[in-house]
Amino acid sequence: MYVCVCQAVTDRQIREAAQGGARTLKDLRRDLGVTRDCGRCASCAHECLQEANQCQGRAGKQMLQAA
Ligand code: FES
Repeated sequence: MYVCVCQAVTDRQIREAAQGGARTLKDLRRDLGVTRDCGRCASCAHECLQEANQCQGRAGKQMLQAA
């Protein structure tokens, strides 16, 4: 799904950016260009990033518990 139509950025790209270390909207703007034009994607991009980071946190905890 497209999150930022102006820069053609998808939720998948945002998840990949999160895996690559993106933690803030500013990181996404730098890495992918979201919010660079109209800015309407800001809240959706932020939510998507938060979800991706929460999933990563859960996956990391599960890996630690399994070890
Ligand atoms: S939709 Fe992202 S800058 Fe316009």
